Amino acid sequence: PKKKSSYLIGMSQANLGEPWRVAMNDQIAAAAAQHPELKVVFADAAQDNSKQIADVENFIQQKVDLLIISPNEAKPLTAVVKKAYDAGIPVIVLDRKVEGDAFTQYIGGDNKLIGKKAGEYVAKLLGDKGGNVVEIKGLEGATPQQERHDGFMEGIKGNPNVKIVASQNADWLKDKAITVMDSILQANKKIDIVYGHNDPSAEGAYISAKNAKRENEMKFVGIDALPTPDGGIKAVMEGRLSVTYVYPTGGKEAIDNAVKILENGEKVEKNITLGTIEITKENAADMYKQFGGK
Ligand code: FRU
Repeated sequence: PKKKSSYLIGMSQANLGEPWRVAMNDQIAAAAAQHPELKVVFADAAQDNSKQIADVENFIQQKVDLLIISPNEAKPLTAVVKKAYDAGIPVIVLDRKVEGDAFTQYIGGDNKLIGKKAGEYVAKLLGDKGGNVVEIKGLEGATPQQERHDGFMEGIKGNPNVKIVASQNADWLKDKAITVMDSILQANKKIDIVYGHNDPSAEGAYISAKNAKRENEMKFVGIDALPTPDGGIKAVMEGRLSVTYVYPTGGKEAIDNAVKILENGEKVEKNITLGTIEITKENAADMYKQFGGK
């Protein structure tokens, strides 16, 4: 791209109704604030694929200099991302993937690895006795859902006595997880562990179990580990979750790379994989401080 004195970045967010996505947008805004020449406009699709397609169409029409997108679901968003990319707009895809490779860069956590670590944790915790596991999955067409499931299955492989007794979708949402868990509890007299694909799912399942006075009968595993008062690290400190895994938003990395693309004309790496940390009672308080939790 040609060097300019200011750049307009369009950021298409899948669903700002979720705390982790609020954190992502905040990190993008904070990183961009360090670069007065960057202006970021945000759009929220509210978990609606058609709205997100329209948001991106809108950014293409506005001729943004760069598009950042965290797609709600992979398949429905693939064509419009390609359309932006083919129109010469550099595209950074964040956290959830699209199909194919018509984008400039993908930045995200290693969902397969996180799922695997969660599975290994569960396999170890249940030990030789084994036990019954409930899986509360994320939105069906979002890539982290499949990857967190596949990784988990791999992680529990070493322990043949781990049994998945229910696996249901709650679209990443706490309220939906409560409803889903309500019926799972009724159908299953013995549950040892709940694996939520994100912290809100695990917390929702916990609330449901507590309502049924069964929360002490089982352990809860989550993913995200936001360092906020209602985030996963605090939930581990307060004993509702046994473990959660840091899933970085990539907001800062997206802006760093946008600068490289727009201002330095650099050819950036196609894929950037962000790390994770396992958060348990042992390190939760330290990590909360380290990540600047208040
Ligand atoms: C928020 C969220 C996070 C999760 C990520 C997966 O929408 O569900 O909780 O880690 O998306 O893409």
